[in-house]
Amino acid sequence: MAKEPYEFPKHIAIIMDGNGRWATKRGLPRLEGHRAGFRTVRDIVRYLGETGHIKYATFYAFSTENWQRPQAEVNGIFQLLNNSIKNEAMELNKNNVRIRWLGQTSSLSNKLIRDIRDAVELTANNTGITISLALNYGGRQEITDAVRQIVAENITPEDVNEETINDHLYTAGMPDVDLLIRTADELRISNFLLWQVAYAEFYFTPVLWPDFNRDELDKALQAFSMRQRRFGRL
Ligand code: IPE
Ligand code: IPE
Ligand code: MG
Repeated sequence: MAKEPYEFPKHIAIIMDGNGRWATKRGLPRLEGHRAGFRTVRDIVRYLGETGHIKYATFYAFSTENWQRPQAEVNGIFQLLNNSIKNEAMELNKNNVRIRWLGQTSSLSNKLIRDIRDAVELTANNTGITISLALNYGGRQEITDAVRQIVAENITPEDVNEETINDHLYTAGMPDVDLLIRTADELRISNFLLWQVAYAEFYFTPVLWPDFNRDELDKALQAFSMRQRRFGRL
């Protein structure tokens, strides 16, 4: 990771795209791309933990829209998750990583929900980087859930402000996204963290997610450090 003086983002969010294309390019089934993408996540998470400059990293693993993919691909992705969450959580816990989950329980198996909740609970008091897994996540769904919760709590309209909404999102307690990275040459947000990216810097790269690595992350961080953020001011 580049040396200081260097402005690091507090919170990075990554849309990990291009697993399927990576596999297709190699004549492999798409699921092999997801497998390779999974290895990339592990390495990037490890790198983030080792360097310790960034406090929050959020990974988009599965969107509420991804259910519309062929059943076999969806099953394959969830099998990968099911087989790994427990072990990953144990390893991350040893490294003082805190795990959070952004998303909805609906449509997930009870076992997976339990494994994720266990991982969150196991690591809740850790003080290192917070890794959030956006799994079965949709940005509009998140805002809708927040509104429902606010209404259910009988909060009066005059008492609803931006902080109220922040506090009811899946990301409650987390800082806004400073840097959003999307791989695989797609220039869109795909329903990811709509509220939280209000003033994020965007970094797009043609690199397919399985090919993304520590150097590519450094490049994104370098680019971020060159940006002049104004937040509407001069
Ligand atoms: C991202 O890779 C992973 C998920 C959305 C689950 P894709 O599977 O979208 O890969 P492409 O975009 O088809 O190449
Ligand atoms: C976004 O990628 C979702 C994840 C990376 C999990 P998609 O591949 O689903 O996005 P679109 O369909 O190209 O917008
Ligand atoms: Mg895609």
